[in-house]
Amino acid sequence: MEPRRTAVLISGTGTNLQALIDATAGGDHPARIVLVISNREGAGGLERAARAGIPTRVIPSARFETRGAFDTALDTALREAEVDLVCLAGFMRVLGQDFVARWRDRMLNIHPSLLPAFRGLETHARVLEAGLPVTGCTVHFVRPEIDEGPVLVQGVVPVFPEDDVETLNARVLEVEHRCYPRALEMVAAGRISVIDERAVLAGERPFERLVLHPSLQEATR
Ligand code: GRF
Repeated sequence: MEPRRTAVLISGTGTNLQALIDATAGGDHPARIVLVISNREGAGGLERAARAGIPTRVIPSARFETRGAFDTALDTALREAEVDLVCLAGFMRVLGQDFVARWRDRMLNIHPSLLPAFRGLETHARVLEAGLPVTGCTVHFVRPEIDEGPVLVQGVVPVFPEDDVETLNARVLEVEHRCYPRALEMVAAGRISVIDERAVLAGERPFERLVLHPSLQEATR
């Protein structure tokens, strides 16, 4: 099967983009990144894409008068590049209902919490505030409601008493970088069906949709 043509949408540094680039660069991943789009000029991820020889586009959302006009420009760029799958990776722009419907079950997002807990922004600060012992990240299919949608893969990290937002963010990012390529692989290989708004993985092996941070093994010993 030909690799699925995948676009990654970013707004910032793009460390998740980098993880996706690295994972799909070899011949054995069922997805290939054919386009990186940023809604912000100068986003760090654009350089990562350029270094990997991946075509980039900047579609500056701030210059569009309506959300619909921006979404249309985005959709046109994706169609021109004959994209099959879309990965949102730190893409800080809410997409409209029509756009989301058009890419239903073909558009993934990564969020830095164990959804459905801690939707929205500032997740790590809220986890610390709540005094929880674990947090993590979620890769899910995108739905019109923010941070909703069938869960594909989750990564779990411990929270230590001495953590601050920065240390926690770094630890969560480590598992994000393992979760996103894995989730994309499942979707691109055609192993995911959505049944009653749940992602069902064909031939699922135990823990296949779960990634543990290495320090968690130590913490639970
Ligand atoms: C990640 O924490 C991701 O979960 C969130 O935005 C951040 C993007 O980081 N959606 P990066 O640009 O991939 O480094």
